[in-house]
Amino acid sequence: MAPSTRSDPAIDVALFAPTLIAWQRIHGRQTLPWQQLGDARDAYRVWLAEIMLQQTQVAAVIPYYRRFLGRFADVQALAAAPLDDVMELWSGLGYYSRARNLHAAARSVVADFGGTFPRDVDALQSLPGIGRSTGGAIAAFAFGVKAPILDGNVKRVLARVFLVEGLSTTTAYTKRMWALGEALLPDEEIERYTQGLMDLGATVCTPRNPACLICPFESSCIAHREGREEEVPERAARKRVPLRWTAMLLVTRGRSVFVERRPPVGIWGGLWSLPEMAADTGDAAMADAVARFGAAVSFERTPGFVHGFTHFVLHAEIVRVTLDESVAMCESPLPSTRWISFDALASVGLPAPVRTLLEALA
Ligand code: ADE
Repeated sequence: MAPSTRSDPAIDVALFAPTLIAWQRIHGRQTLPWQQLGDARDAYRVWLAEIMLQQTQVAAVIPYYRRFLGRFADVQALAAAPLDDVMELWSGLGYYSRARNLHAAARSVVADFGGTFPRDVDALQSLPGIGRSTGGAIAAFAFGVKAPILDGNVKRVLARVFLVEGLSTTTAYTKRMWALGEALLPDEEIERYTQGLMDLGATVCTPRNPACLICPFESSCIAHREGREEEVPERAARKRVPLRWTAMLLVTRGRSVFVERRPPVGIWGGLWSLPEMAADTGDAAMADAVARFGAAVSFERTPGFVHGFTHFVLHAEIVRVTLDESVAMCESPLPSTRWISFDALASVGLPAPVRTLLEALA
């Protein structure tokens, strides 16, 4: 069914932006580390924040953002760095394709744009990792360009205030929303307006239990007026995600652990992780480990971890192999494998659950 908007919106389209801007000035977030309105704005910092904030909450991003800027002060520094250093700093933040794209985009800004971020949304969108909404946010925050954004939070705010019905994940609905987002844009204070949309969606117009009583659109929001704020935007029923099982080898020798670099694409692409075995049961994994490391001091099945991804849940079983310290440590035969010290885990790009596991043993 085509999305429908009521023909009698309770709020005049022209009043939406001024209301939101006035609300943001008093109730919005003003002190986030990447908020730099005025002369100090720096497209590199804005871009870095917007990429980190894709799929990740503000509180989780802040320490990563600070560390990243401490290490790479500008786009030139980032472009000149090896990908490994970038992955290491990103480790734990998840969705690692963002880090690979970030690095590729930095190189493109230096090689193709003379080291300066482009101002317009189309050019920004030509960089890896920047879609239309992120491009709009960067253009607005860094350059004051009048461009709409449309992430999940913004879609929810607009769907409720204007009661846009229909399945929110369809192309027709999204197109409709972009058009609405475009029509609502103010001629001034685009930065505050854009931040206001984000702030309202994150702190007031939440998916469940929205705080309608303190919302600037409390009396004009059509969904609220009809008591239907939790019904919009309508989402397709969530599919049950499949379970995947894997067995990993945790080979230690004294204070060192053996790790393998994961292929560049796929989950945890480019990170260092525990080697995975081909076995399809815990017993087979154990037999495999014994066959490979006959001279080990001990073999042990240790508690693994369960980790949720967007499309599946991973159950990892761990076979721990302890090697005798008196046995000479062989050099890693492949460039994609190495021994790392338990004392240096912080400086290696590891998947979050693997890091947690290793830190518990360190
Ligand atoms: N989410 C995405 N971009 C954001 C920003 N600039 N501030 C707060 N939350 C955000």
